[in-house]
Amino acid sequence: MKKAIIGGTGVYGIGEESYSKIVETKYGNVELDIVKIQGEEIVFLARHGKSHSNPPHLVNYRANMKALEKIGVKYVYATAAVGSCNEAYSPGDVVVIKNFIDFTKTRPLTFYEGGLEGVKHVDMSDPYCRNLRKQFYSLAEKNDINIKGDAVYVCTEGPRFETEYEIKMYKQLGGDVVGMTNVPEVVLAKELGMCYSVIGIITNWCTGMKHEAITLHDIEGSVSKNKQIITETFLEIFKNGLNQDECMCNQAIIEL
Ligand code: HPA
Repeated sequence: MKKAIIGGTGVYGIGEESYSKIVETKYGNVELDIVKIQGEEIVFLARHGKSHSNPPHLVNYRANMKALEKIGVKYVYATAAVGSCNEAYSPGDVVVIKNFIDFTKTRPLTFYEGGLEGVKHVDMSDPYCRNLRKQFYSLAEKNDINIKGDAVYVCTEGPRFETEYEIKMYKQLGGDVVGMTNVPEVVLAKELGMCYSVIGIITNWCTGMKHEAITLHDIEGSVSKNKQIITETFLEIFKNGLNQDECMCNQAIIEL
């Protein structure tokens, strides 16, 4: 199984007929859904667990990504619910994440912690696979998904939302959207040589942007409006076939 979808908040499945598979890793066990689509088995992973039981700072990112690697996954599309700190991107909009700024604090960041795994660094000049991003743009147009643009994702530790002054700072640093999960997920994917891309679904204005409180209703509404067409687009891209010839994702490890 080479292709996977990681569903963020509000995206807990991609098809009717699936079976579940537990994959054991040295970081813990992971439950995956295997969905058969036109004869091909596609993997679905609910990032926070199917009943959204893992908060962002406690998601077992290493187990998740290792489990995908263990069953052969090379291509991953993910969704992420995000707040917007850019006036051009409003709740309900869809953006393609092009880069990130990491403000996480306490999470395991890498598979390479010395010992048997060794000491390795990973190149971040193209954190999100350029080919997967390009493919999403071209199919989204055909599927009438109105992508508002590329976005820089600021990853916070959570689970609390940000203060108004934190958001002012993130804006000044060049951030467009804010979420709590994409780091270390994208970094670990790159460490494993996978092609990875995440599509942001804007669920709310970030704190202080419009002086309104953030509600669960906003978050769920924006995701449910977009999730089906986004996951269908992922599946269509998978069906057309992918390769690693047009990106450097499987050559990003720098060994000293
Ligand atoms: N901040 C952080 N994470 C989020 C937000 C936000 O405003 N919206 C959805 N996830």
